[in-house]
Amino acid sequence: MVAETRISADDLVAPLFVREGIDEPVPIDSLPGVVQHSQGSLRAEVERLAGLGVPGIILFGIPEHKDDEGSEAWNPDGVVQVALRNLRADLGDDVVLMADLCVDEYTSHGHCGIVGDDGRVDNDATLDLYAQAAVAQAAAGAHITAPSGMMDGQVFAIREALDEEEFVDVSILAYAAKYASSFYGPFRDAVDVTIADGGNRNGYQQDWRNAREAMEEIRFDLSEGADMIMVKPAVAYLDILTRARMEVDVPLAAYHVSGEYAMLKAAAQNGWIDGDVAAIETLTAIKRAGADFILTYLAGEVAERLKSGGAL
Ligand code: PBG
Repeated sequence: MVAETRISADDLVAPLFVREGIDEPVPIDSLPGVVQHSQGSLRAEVERLAGLGVPGIILFGIPEHKDDEGSEAWNPDGVVQVALRNLRADLGDDVVLMADLCVDEYTSHGHCGIVGDDGRVDNDATLDLYAQAAVAQAAAGAHITAPSGMMDGQVFAIREALDEEEFVDVSILAYAAKYASSFYGPFRDAVDVTIADGGNRNGYQQDWRNAREAMEEIRFDLSEGADMIMVKPAVAYLDILTRARMEVDVPLAAYHVSGEYAMLKAAAQNGWIDGDVAAIETLTAIKRAGADFILTYLAGEVAERLKSGGAL
């Protein structure tokens, strides 16, 4: 009766992987229970999630061909664009279709942008790629595009491109406070990304020692036209979420990322924690800290348990 925070299926967004050129789903070892979907298995999974009351999904693509610029990210027949068209035809507006917007899954070097001769990512040259990818996603049926590359000025560039092409109703969920985190490891397995030459993303993602800087990133993104913002990862950054909640009144998302999910699953598989309870406890904590919705690989299983009355 006195519980202040309750998690429900409509707080959850399921991240889903779709891979080009496969007919059957492929399991991902470091993400137990998560797969790379074929176009067919993706459609069935989104149908299932909709039936469980999960209101949204976010798509990541694994293309057959990668190149220097990541051109499959804006190919109208690229893997995510095909998936968006299928899902929009299947479900209309019943499920919110979000598309992650970045090029790292599509580049041969694994960086989130164009790499210059000096080996560094060229922020401003990359904005053009993001603008093209946003338009391709919108044209294919995305309700929301979610830029995750952490280039300065990306939200403005995307908004401008969308408006020019008259996709004025497509919203932007900005990965505003995204840290250069070790917790993205299993995700990179899922999308077959290795950053070239032992590189990292410290040049564009945030330093985990900084909190005020995250607020500055959030303010920039809102001033550029973001409709919603995200903090990522979640569990190690609950303080950032709470600060963001106090600072802004737009919808606030948290991404419970691959490594956070994998740790929970690994401990549960060893019998070291009760995985079912830990999942609900974790998601409730993220909501309690201030998130309006949570991107999590737990979405399907938790929604299922909530439906059968099996959760707290
Ligand atoms: C970039 C992107 C990443 C994640 C979401 N979008 C990886 C990265 O920044 O290296 C990570 C998500 C997760 O770990 O679950 N396209």
